[in-house]
Amino acid sequence: IPLAGVIGCPISHSRSPKLHKFWLARYGLAGDYVPLHVTEADLPGVIRALPKMGFVGANVTIPHKVSVLSIADQVSDRATLIGAANTLAFGADGRIYADNTDGYGFLANLRQGAPDWDPSAGPAAVLGAGGAARAVISSLIEAGTKEIYLTNRTRPKAETLRHDFGSRITVVDWVQAGNMLEDATTVVNTTSLGMTGAAEFRVPLDGLRRGTVVTDLVYTPLRTKLLQEAEAAGCVTVDGLGMLIHQGVPGFERWFGRRPEVDDLVRQEMLS
Ligand code: ATR
Repeated sequence: IPLAGVIGCPISHSRSPKLHKFWLARYGLAGDYVPLHVTEADLPGVIRALPKMGFVGANVTIPHKVSVLSIADQVSDRATLIGAANTLAFGADGRIYADNTDGYGFLANLRQGAPDWDPSAGPAAVLGAGGAARAVISSLIEAGTKEIYLTNRTRPKAETLRHDFGSRITVVDWVQAGNMLEDATTVVNTTSLGMTGAAEFRVPLDGLRRGTVVTDLVYTPLRTKLLQEAEAAGCVTVDGLGMLIHQGVPGFERWFGRRPEVDDLVRQEMLS
């Protein structure tokens, strides 16, 4: 039977096995999906061995999303642009193809959650400049967003993204983050900031306007502080759980031969 898995270190927190095993059962497909705890030192050897053991592909998560690029035989253009891969497919000859589906998952989730969303209606405001922000920014550009305001606590990381993704990006200082929301028609939080504790989301949100599409990559809790306040301000809000689910679709389809649905059934499974 075809095998797939998720490679990371640590790996026990990964929600991907739950997702893919649910889809396999739902469609009655032969196959399995396992968590694989792999250290950095073992990564090249393990990846090379997987196709020989019946694996058709794998997801890659922290901390291997960048280093896997130099192990793969072929890297997709979008994975190269993002500088990270999260999905591997193995050819019959053992060749390793690396792709990044995070940007796809981000866009598919926004389009499903906010069907009237127009990426070119106005500027997008992106909070955070980590790995997830790179996928978000590249897909916003691909979708036709002309101007992206980008802010990050550590400003040089935002400057690096501007250097990599070009002049559509305007870097905004972290202390000015609230201001960039005023004329944004899309707002995306890619930081790990949550609702309570030291890493609480404290950006002032009174600039949010009615009708703005607001999404948060954080999905625990599902309704983050940003989404709650955005909803109260009359924004269209989309939670981040769907991005996690949608990013798994291309891999699952490629490995197991059936395009899985993203609906309430799978959302409920991921919340249980
Ligand atoms: P991911 O792959 O999810 O983007 P990451 O690369 O670790 O993860 O990025 C985490 C993001 O959350 C960064 O933008 C980080 O800001 P810094 O670059 O300044 O570290 C942001 N972040 C995490 N904790 C934060 C905090 N307490 N305040 C502000 N930003 C924070």
